[in-house]
Amino acid sequence: MAPISFLIACLLAFTLEIFFSPPVSSSASLLSNSKYSSSMKDLIKLGEGCVNHPEDVSVVVRKGALYTAARDGWVKYFILHNETLVNWKHIDSNTFLGITTTEEGDVIVCDTEKGLLKVSEAGVEVLDPDVRFTNDVIEASDGSLYFTVSSKKYTPAEYYKDLVEGKPHGQLLKYDPELEETTVLHEGFYFANGVALSKDENFVVVCESWKFRCRRYWLKGPRQGRLESFIEHLPGGPDNINLAPDGSFWVALIKVYVIDGMQDRLLKQRE
Ligand SMILES: *[C@@H]1O[C@H](CO)[C@@H](O)[C@H](O)[C@H]1NC(C)=O
Repeated sequence: MAPISFLIACLLAFTLEIFFSPPVSSSASLLSNSKYSSSMKDLIKLGEGCVNHPEDVSVVVRKGALYTAARDGWVKYFILHNETLVNWKHIDSNTFLGITTTEEGDVIVCDTEKGLLKVSEAGVEVLDPDVRFTNDVIEASDGSLYFTVSSKKYTPAEYYKDLVEGKPHGQLLKYDPELEETTVLHEGFYFANGVALSKDENFVVVCESWKFRCRRYWLKGPRQGRLESFIEHLPGGPDNINLAPDGSFWVALIKVYVIDGMQDRLLKQRE
């Protein structure tokens, strides 16, 4: 069972993600106070009290629906026009993190214990049972799935050990649906969390929660295979990230609370 603080962080991240993180580009001025408070006024809460610890959302525009996977095992969707919440498919699990919806209408779920799952009308299929602590996933237009493993050393319940150890145990991976094979694209992330594809699919952005930054991994072009800075010095630990319609990204931030005296050390670690 994950510590309550982690669940709260997940919930907070979810809330932030939907409701008030302004889209940022790599050069954006972040969370300036006026922007922050003015967008707060327009918040609407969806499904309050009806969803058990959802960690991520994914919108299917043509269905007008918002999908999520809750800790009660239900993959649900919320029909926006009439505000109806539908329990779609049930999985015998309570260890879901990130999700994405696919072109075909399936939902890909990161289950930190069972691996990478595909949920469709037909049922649940485990795409890769060998990966643990998967955190977020995105589908490319060729059907490939890019996903993160936050820590190959620790479990979600031990996330604080990963933080305190301060070593990069995170990975970016790719699942090829034709070959039914997973490959590690890059290692050495400080808690790889959210992952998003750029609009042109030339790169993916990976959030590194413990470093308060996001990195860019090039999939195509002259810089293919290289990992570079995307945005640094975020005002919190980045959690999930989604592409916005204009090509910028929405990033959910985790407020990291530290006990007296630890803050300086953490800040040093971030340098
Ligand atoms: C909400 O809309 C969907 C179709 O978009 C429909 O199938 C469903 O029955 C509606 N639910 C309610 C409670 O009206």
